[in-house]
Amino acid sequence: MFIHKVLMRKFLVLILLLCPFALAQESPGLGVPASPEEVAGWDISIGPEGENLPAGSGTVAQGASIYAVQCFACHGPNGEGATNDRLAGGHGSLETANARKTVGSYWPYATTVFDYVRRAMPFQQPGSLNDGEVYALTAYLLNINGIVDEATVLNAETLPTIEMPNRDGFIWSSEVR
Ligand code: HEC
Repeated sequence: MFIHKVLMRKFLVLILLLCPFALAQESPGLGVPASPEEVAGWDISIGPEGENLPAGSGTVAQGASIYAVQCFACHGPNGEGATNDRLAGGHGSLETANARKTVGSYWPYATTVFDYVRRAMPFQQPGSLNDGEVYALTAYLLNINGIVDEATVLNAETLPTIEMPNRDGFIWSSEVR
């Protein structure tokens, strides 16, 4: 017991002695500061209201062509699903025992489709699509879900105006008491 106390005291004294040195050494001096351009390259999050949407635009027809080459293999014809997720349909199924959650039936914001596809798809090569291609694919995915018509052109102004069918199907955590 006595040894214990002595050891403990020594240990505490050692910590107190070392503290100022630890504080004085603010950083290990590694790395280089990121430039504004580098930060902008990572700052790709799109808010629900479309904050931060880039320039560029795309049509449903352009999206259909890109889909056929880049997405069809995994997501099937018309987003019906293949080896991977079904992207269309399931409308009206959420409240049934056989709920089918798709981009069209479940996602509350159209802007999220742009954000998701740009950052994550195609699965084997994320980040390879340019902004116009992502607008076009977003238009196509919304079209096969019956949310926009074939003449739709999506860009930073038009995309945030689209209202998704399940827009009011979520409860903000701040509203839960
Ligand atoms: C190699 C297969 C593959 C290809 C090609 C591919 N995807 Fe995907 N996709 C996936 C996988 C796997 C997931 C699920 C990822 C996860 O849950 O983390 C997914 C998920 C998605 C989702 C979300 C579905 C949901 O409801 O959660 C969307 C939207 C999507 N992909 C769109 C696309 C588009 C658009 C393309 C073409 C540019 C594409 N994908 C190409 C494999 C692929």
